[in-house]
Amino acid sequence: MVTGKDTLTIALSKGRLAEQTLDLLQAAGYDTSCARSGSRKLILEDEKAGLRFILAKPADVPTYVEYGAADIGVVGKDTLLEEGRRLYEVLNLGFGACRMCVAGPAWMAGKLDGIPNKRVATKYPRIAREYFELKKRESVEIIKLNGSVELAPLVGLSEVIVDIVESGRTLRENGLEVLETIADVSARMVVNRVSLKMKSERIGALVAAVRAEMARTGVKG
Ligand code: PRP
Repeated sequence: MVTGKDTLTIALSKGRLAEQTLDLLQAAGYDTSCARSGSRKLILEDEKAGLRFILAKPADVPTYVEYGAADIGVVGKDTLLEEGRRLYEVLNLGFGACRMCVAGPAWMAGKLDGIPNKRVATKYPRIAREYFELKKRESVEIIKLNGSVELAPLVGLSEVIVDIVESGRTLRENGLEVLETIADVSARMVVNRVSLKMKSERIGALVAAVRAEMARTGVKG
């Protein structure tokens, strides 16, 4: 019988990442049926197995894990970079792959550095600031938006955007293109710093099982 303190709490990013995480854990030998009920419950627990899943907004997953409300989280690298939480990143899970990019109208290709005082619209102000101000040593105005960021250069709110590009379809259909790539993004498994010590055996076993499943299916993390 697994006792309460041995329960592993895993924070899932609501949406596609959650589904892919559950599929991977299932394939790695963990029974995830408790999290597949299709209900609106936000905590899904398998007491016997000592596993509990919590369903959080992706941007909040690092917060739950940093504070120890969850032992483990699965979240995109974009969110980790933006949130800057103190966590251990233990695995690159490979899925949810996309790129964090600077994008804008095609005529700006190769001319980006020559445009002064750029306005940059983005859902990722921290990533945008670090890229332009720390890496490129360029002063820009960051305009925080909450979605449909591609709209900003089309209506004159900004010159460029910083956003994730997956298939490239949203950019293409709005007459924009990738101007610079900031980082490759994919789903990562993160662990609370205290949990890694206090629950080292269970967490180590889970990470090893997931790693073995990824190796079996040829996924490169
Ligand atoms: C994301 C992202 C891009 C789009 C990229 O938006 O912000 O807009 O997907 O995907 P693509 O390259 O395959 O077209 P999301 O769907 O999360 O909606 P949002 O714009 O409201 O954030």
